[in-house]
Amino acid sequence: MRIGTKHYRSIWRKGRKVFIIDQNSLPNKFSTLQISSSKEIASCIQEMRVRGAPLIGVTAAYGIALAMSENPSDNNLKTTCNTLISTRPTAVNLSHSLSRMCSVIEALPKDERSDKAWVEADKIADEDVIQNKLLGKNGLTLIEKVSNQKETVNVLTHCNAGWLATVDLGTALSPIFLAHDKGIDVHVWVDETRPRNQGLLTAWELASHGIPYTLIVDNAGGYLMQKKQVDMVIVGADRVSARGDVCNKIGTYLKALSAWDNDIPFYAAVPSPTIDWTINDGTTEIPIEQRQPNEVTMISTSSIKYKYNLHGVGSPKASNPAFDVTPARLVTGLITDKGLINPVSPINMNKLKNILATDEREKR
Ligand code: MRU
Repeated sequence: MRIGTKHYRSIWRKGRKVFIIDQNSLPNKFSTLQISSSKEIASCIQEMRVRGAPLIGVTAAYGIALAMSENPSDNNLKTTCNTLISTRPTAVNLSHSLSRMCSVIEALPKDERSDKAWVEADKIADEDVIQNKLLGKNGLTLIEKVSNQKETVNVLTHCNAGWLATVDLGTALSPIFLAHDKGIDVHVWVDETRPRNQGLLTAWELASHGIPYTLIVDNAGGYLMQKKQVDMVIVGADRVSARGDVCNKIGTYLKALSAWDNDIPFYAAVPSPTIDWTINDGTTEIPIEQRQPNEVTMISTSSIKYKYNLHGVGSPKASNPAFDVTPARLVTGLITDKGLINPVSPINMNKLKNILATDEREKR
């Protein structure tokens, strides 16, 4: 994506050094960070300097590449994988990336591991951009359909599933960028997404691209849907189960319920590595990250820090589950790089699985 006159990806490398955009400084300040070790990669994921399911996966792949340059032993590969996998439990892209890196590297003699690891990490990064471009085109058709019937298409989104959450283009925002570039009048309702306010990243991305948007508090979506001010909801996903349950940022499920009650289509934009074919019931089988309560008891952005205080009793008690799961029955469709899955039925999910398996065979 362009920032000023320069095109950026959210992660890139020069030789054996990895660079990221520090998302903890955004949207107030744009700064990049150089990462020189696999340990630093793990901290950047854990501290959410990089975030978003696809970007977490790609960053971890570069973590393995750095580790193999540090020490290409089997033991270091195993230890680094264990460290990286424990950084954030919910987004399945992390384990997909790590298993892919391990299966490529394990088979090689030690002196070939580092070079190959860098090449494979680059491949995972490039594939992410291709997948997002393809799913963007598939999602665009949905926005176009609405724009044939009314002038402004109002999309509601939750969290940040834009280019910052991926290597480039984004998932939920990819069709929106394309629609705007095509001249479609699209306006986005942006959920603030407490407690970490990823909505501000979305607002920054949209504003930088010249796309009309309005930032709203997380509880406003239901009201706006009732008032017919939302034409469709498009969100990203951290993990989608084999039957199509969508795990995404906490609060997504409530948006899906509201959309259902108001007859508004609810879509999740999902690159294929975000689907976990090993689990079926996402509502019970997906591990939900529990983050520190202090994220709830503080208003914290890149420019403001304010800690809640209850007079005489100190800080309030809090709980901070970071994701929730929307059951497939509430999901109108999945926008994937392989096409639209609509309805989200076992037959359609199976078709997608077969397409992916065929692609995989053809690649080999
Ligand atoms: O906790 P985060 O900021 O990593 O959560 C991000 C989300 O929930 C995104 O919606 C999801 O990863 C999809 S990103 C393309």
